Parts: sequence; C-alpha cells; structure tokens
Amino acid sequence: MLAALAGEVRPRPPFWLMRQAGRYLPEYRELRAKAGSFLDLCYNPDFAVEVTLQPLRRYGMDAAILFSDILVVPHALGQPLAYLEGEGPKLDPVRTVEDLKRLSRDRFHETLAPVYETVRRLSTAIPAETTLIGFAGAPWTIACYMVEGAGSKEYAHVKRWAYGDPVGFGQLIDLIVEVTADYLCRQIEAGAETVQLFDSWAGVLPVAEFRRWVIEPTRQIVALVKAKHPNTPVIGFPRGAGHAYEEYVAGSGVDAVGLDTTVPPVWAAQTLQTRLPVQGNLDPIMLAAGGKALETATHDILAALAGGPFVFNLGHGVIQSTPPAHVEALTRILRDW
Ligand code: CP3
Repeated sequence: MLAALAGEVRPRPPFWLMRQAGRYLPEYRELRAKAGSFLDLCYNPDFAVEVTLQPLRRYGMDAAILFSDILVVPHALGQPLAYLEGEGPKLDPVRTVEDLKRLSRDRFHETLAPVYETVRRLSTAIPAETTLIGFAGAPWTIACYMVEGAGSKEYAHVKRWAYGDPVGFGQLIDLIVEVTADYLCRQIEAGAETVQLFDSWAGVLPVAEFRRWVIEPTRQIVALVKAKHPNTPVIGFPRGAGHAYEEYVAGSGVDAVGLDTTVPPVWAAQTLQTRLPVQGNLDPIMLAAGGKALETATHDILAALAGGPFVFNLGHGVIQSTPPAHVEALTRILRDW
C-alpha cells in the first residue's frame, strides 16, 4: 500500500475497507456486548487492538486502520460526547465564539494517550507488509458534529455560523486544525505509516465555502504534518466533493485522494489519477448486495483504475448488514485480478 501511495503501479492493487472493523463482524459484536460504552472502548487499547486485528485475520487486508472514532478529538477538547444506541453520537453543541470558551487543549493529549498506546501496540502486532493507517476527521466534518451536536440532514446550525460569522467560526476551525495536526503527528510518532483525513460532509458546501472550510484547513493540516513528517503520506477523503474533487486535489496538498461512491472511475483515472494515487470506490451497498453485481462493479473499478497508482477501497464505510461472506468474495476477486 505504501508503494501505491508513493505512486507505484502494483500488479495487484492493495486494498483495505473503510470501517473494516465493526458491527458486521460477529466477533466484534460479541466483544462489544461484553464491554462498556463505545467511547470507553475507543480508549481501551486491549479492545481497540483486538478489533483492529479482527478483519485482518479473516481477510488479510493490506492495511490495518486504527480502531477509534473521529469524535475523540472534540471529546479530548472537553466537549461532552455520548453514543446513544441506534441514534449515533450526541455532543453538547458549541454554536458561538462564547461557547468556544468551554473547550480546552489542556487535557488533549492526556485524554488521547490510550489511542497513541493502541497505535504503538498495533505497529508491532500487524505483519510487516501490512500498512498501519492512523486517521482523524477533517475540520469541516468535525465542526459539523461539534456545532450540530449530532448528525444532521441540513447542517443548518453549522452553515449559518460559517456563512454569517466566518471570523468567529474560523476560530473553531483554527483550533481543530491545530489539534488535529498535533494528533496526527502523535499517531505517526507512535507508528502510523500513513494517515487519512475523513471529510464525510465535504459535499454539503457551495464551492466558495468548500474552498474556505474544506480545502484550506486541509492544506494547513497537511503542511503542519509534513513539516514534522515529510515522508508520511496523507490521504484526503472529501466525500461528496463532486466537481470540486479537482480543486481539492490541486489545492489541499494531500498525497492521495479517496473517491466516494458517486465518482466515475474512468473520469477519476483521466482527471485525478494523472496527478496522484487514488483510493476507492465500490459502493458499500454493492458489497452488502453481493453476487454478480458485486463482481461486475469491482471489475469495472479495477479496469478503470488498476493501471495507475491505486488502492482499492469502498466509496464509504462497510454497513452493518453486510454478510461477512461477501467480503470474502470481494477479497477473492481482488486476489485473482
Ligand atoms: O474504519 C474503521 O474500521 C476504523 C474505525 C472508525 C470508526 N469510525 C468506528 C466506529 C472510523 C475510521 C470511523 C470514522 C467516523 N466516525 C466517521 C468518518 C467516516 C464516515 O463514516 O463518514 C464519522 C462521520 C464518524 C462518526 C460516527 N461514529 C458516527 C456517525 C457513528 C454512529 C453511526 C454508526 O455507524 O453507529 C459512530 C460510531 C462508530 N464508529 C461505530 C464504529 C465501529 C459503531 C459503534 C458501535 O459499535 O456501536
């Protein structure tokens, strides 16, 4: 995978799957049921190491991704966070400059120390040829959760703050940029060989705001990480960026770009992959559906993208109802390529 990220064309493209650890695996559900809250588990290196390794044992992916969540960053800034069963994450929202006073960097690395410990243990627990991926949420997506206090359909609170008071909102983004760069550097120092920035809600912004709140903060984080770790590749995943993928690739400084499900692979080969390695983009629902459709879709992606620097992945995370046998089938298709 590191060779592909460095621009090499591999005869068999490396692969991993976003959300490759998690509830679709019975061994995950079994451990999860015995243990405490999801957040406690993210801060429990014994658990986090074990569930990171579970999909590797079954499928031998070319990369392991640290088991954690993007929302540990706001949590480590002191923002109360809970994951409610069936409802997703809930945070006490910050919506004004005044609210930012409730956040603090004082206990940031102390809170995240178990995550660094998980990375350290994983770096020796996984096979040498398996790449260890660290990650964080990108500032726009983290701000979405911090300001809305949950997932959202409209993102009205965060957009109204960003559009109506860009200077005030910029203070929140600047804070997230600084701590996220630090967080990624610590993961790299603990043994992460590449890092991915998840910008799950990049696709909800008009283009001018996309430049300001997606491309520019990402560029700053990449520059801060590169200043300390010039040889560690950074993968950006601006989900839903659509036509703005090109500008993101040109302006953010990322070393590789993750394609969401909607990006046409042939277009990506001609327009993006000529500039940098790409990763993606099988529809996770295609994986859940399985059968002939899964085979055809996988072959189409490989035909379009495997001739250039490429990491096979999904266009978003594995969904819970995915039969593990379908992941097995996908693994076979990729190995036979
Ligand atoms: O990919 C992996 O295997 C590594 C672990 C990982 C998780 N979340 C574990 C998780 C990663 C990389 C993430 C990223 C993440 N988290 C994103 C960005 C990617 C994306 O999906 O768009 C986002 C937006 C989140 C925030 C988040 N965490 C939500 C919205 C939820 C609830 C929805 C859900 O699927 O339950 C979570 C919880 C979460 N994060 C779970 C896991 C395994 C489920 C928790 C459980 O076991 O109950």
